Amino acid sequence: MSGANEPKVPWSGRGNRFTDEEIDYIVEAMKTADPMTQGRYQAEFECNFAGFVEQKYAFAVTSGTAALQMAAALTRVGPGDDVIMPAHTFAASAIPFGQMGANLVWADIDPDTLVVTGDAIARVLTPKTKVIVVVHLYGLMVDMDPIMKLAKERGILVVEDCAQSLGATDDKDRQAGSIGDFGCYSFHTHKNMSTLGEGGMLTVRDDDLAAVVPGLRHNGMRGFDFAQDEYWKPAMSNVDFDWDNIWPYNFCMGEVQCAAGIVQLRRVNDMNAKRDQRARRFAEALSGFPELVFQHTPDGYHNIRYCLPARYDGTETDATRDDFMRRMAHHHQVKMVVQYYPLYRYPMFIKAGFGDADCPETDRFFDSMVSFPFHEWMPDDQFEYMLDATRETLDTLRRDAA
Ligand SMILES: Cc1ncc(COP(=O)(O)O)c(C=O)c1O
Repeated sequence: MSGANEPKVPWSGRGNRFTDEEIDYIVEAMKTADPMTQGRYQAEFECNFAGFVEQKYAFAVTSGTAALQMAAALTRVGPGDDVIMPAHTFAASAIPFGQMGANLVWADIDPDTLVVTGDAIARVLTPKTKVIVVVHLYGLMVDMDPIMKLAKERGILVVEDCAQSLGATDDKDRQAGSIGDFGCYSFHTHKNMSTLGEGGMLTVRDDDLAAVVPGLRHNGMRGFDFAQDEYWKPAMSNVDFDWDNIWPYNFCMGEVQCAAGIVQLRRVNDMNAKRDQRARRFAEALSGFPELVFQHTPDGYHNIRYCLPARYDGTETDATRDDFMRRMAHHHQVKMVVQYYPLYRYPMFIKAGFGDADCPETDRFFDSMVSFPFHEWMPDDQFEYMLDATRETLDTLRRDAA
């Protein structure tokens, strides 16, 4: 199963693998793509993606962070504006809005679903709120209707951070990213599908905002707005702002990565279904152990299970989360982790002045959470081993308490 010093169940650096047919398709792109960026693979990937997530426009970019940076620029937030978001998320949900000079305001999570709620957002809303960032964390969609209602009433823009939720749907069968103004997706190596390690997608609803994206994504490059007498005069292409003072980036994704995206997108629903089936089996098999409380998926929601987090409650056995992790790591060699340090506890956000928060559920969950290894290609025997190891650990902690 693994070498002497390797964990028996590793925390894998990749969430998925490519099939031989997928690799053939990607190699063909390596051989034939001309140009190797912004060509036919990009056009096909974006078109298929927009159809998949049911949003009007999709733009391939270099990462989920780049998608969030573009969304932040498109909201035109700046100093004096509040941006509300959960602190129980990866730092990239927040950094792009800090870069714009906005004031970051933390909203709490629900203790059962582990995602932000309309009520929590309403509690920190002010007349200065210009943007709400929702994060569909661990593969579960946020309940969007109350948030969209608040946003509509106040003219607030909504960014959906879908980095962990491509293919997740809510109880109205709506795709993650199809409800707010912007959807930001990641194809980073850990994600349910990957474009060779890095990559992302920005989706946009509004026609006028979408028109700004090509220039914003590629150094403000465009054609000249007059007929050129000679194609080389005055130059090959023009460079300009779409909006004064919004400087552009280069966030274009290469053609080979787009080819990987095309083939992985065809299979992402199947990969998600396998994850969901395993997560359910794991939680059901451990239902006799109230010490572990898994993320609650409300009726009608499809959770795509980017991760397998749980709250560890050892009050009955007098054991702590760290006792549980210690036995899993050292006795069973299962490499679990603790994820998503509340953002207001990181030096970066404290130094920037965003170290204050009133988020008791975020703190409570983080301080008792565990996350099981959960890559899609984990062999069945490893998965079953992890389940047995978890049972054995919980039994042992109970026996030790007796
Ligand atoms: C919730 C969340 N937002 C944003 C990102 C940033 O995505 P990327 O790593 O592709 O920049 C990630 C993933 O890493 C994430 O998990």
